[in-house]
Amino acid sequence: MGKERLVGKVALISGGARGMGASEAQLFIDEGAKVVITDVLDSDGEATAKRLSPDGTACKFFHHDVTKEDHWKSAVDFAIKEFGQIDILVNNAGIFERGTVLDTSLDAYMKTININQVGVFLGMQAVAPHMVSRQKGSIINISSVAGLSGTPGFLAYGASKWAVRGMTKGVAKELAPFGVRVNSIHPGIIDTPMLQTFDQAGEGVREMVRSRIPLGYESEPVNVARLALYLASDDSSYSTGSEFVVDGGMTA
Ligand SMILES: NC(=O)c1ccc[n+]([C@@H]2O[C@H](COP(=O)([O-])OP(=O)(O)OC[C@H]3O[C@@H](n4cnc5c(N)ncnc54)[C@H](O)[C@@H]3O)[C@@H](O)[C@H]2O)c1
Repeated sequence: MGKERLVGKVALISGGARGMGASEAQLFIDEGAKVVITDVLDSDGEATAKRLSPDGTACKFFHHDVTKEDHWKSAVDFAIKEFGQIDILVNNAGIFERGTVLDTSLDAYMKTININQVGVFLGMQAVAPHMVSRQKGSIINISSVAGLSGTPGFLAYGASKWAVRGMTKGVAKELAPFGVRVNSIHPGIIDTPMLQTFDQAGEGVREMVRSRIPLGYESEPVNVARLALYLASDDSSYSTGSEFVVDGGMTA
């Protein structure tokens, strides 16, 4: 087994320089895919691409700010030029910043919405014509458990992740007649650099969050990557417009 579920497929993974995106890139490559990772973190992105594919034949990095429409066009053109097509888009880039309804400025709110929500919209819009013309494709939008229930203290983040879940369902219905599937993943607490937000929030915050996980531990990113692999592969060919939760039981 292994090195076969994505043979012949090409993936574009936003925010793939580190964390979950890098883990997805690694697993996809292990399963035979070619992968373009994109990010605003150039040196991390270049290093990750080099680590995953030292000779550059399976993985390439492309500088990309997901809030910029022209960057999306360039990223899609780059992936098609390098690897011939795009079968899989993982809209993974995101930020996680604190703020309640009482203390979130409009600028802070819009910063999160632009990256986490508008970035996903632009990504789907950028790849859809290509996927529609090929009559196939799988779009995987990374939402969160914060897109399934209220998340006090993270107002903009929660709003953005609910929007991702909603867009996923609408676009899934729009693109289903063209053979393109769209699903969302809702991770719980995953051990990536993003969790520094909890550490910065004060002593004991991370332990408090961890105590709300029925399985009792934060997950390694690979558990999200395995779910993304399922949605990227033809194994999930009858699933579209659905939310897939990987949260150690947090939302049970
Ligand atoms: N870590 C968790 O517990 C958790 C839980 C639920 C959902 N998520 C979601 O998973 C996704 C991946 O997060 P992660 O945990 O790997 O965090 P991470 O911070 O390690 O990775 C996020 C990546 O997105 C990139 N990014 C940020 N803004 C960008 C922009 N404008 N354009 C392009 N790239 C940009 C960052 O540079 C970073 O490499 C995010 O959408 C996050 O909201 C994370």
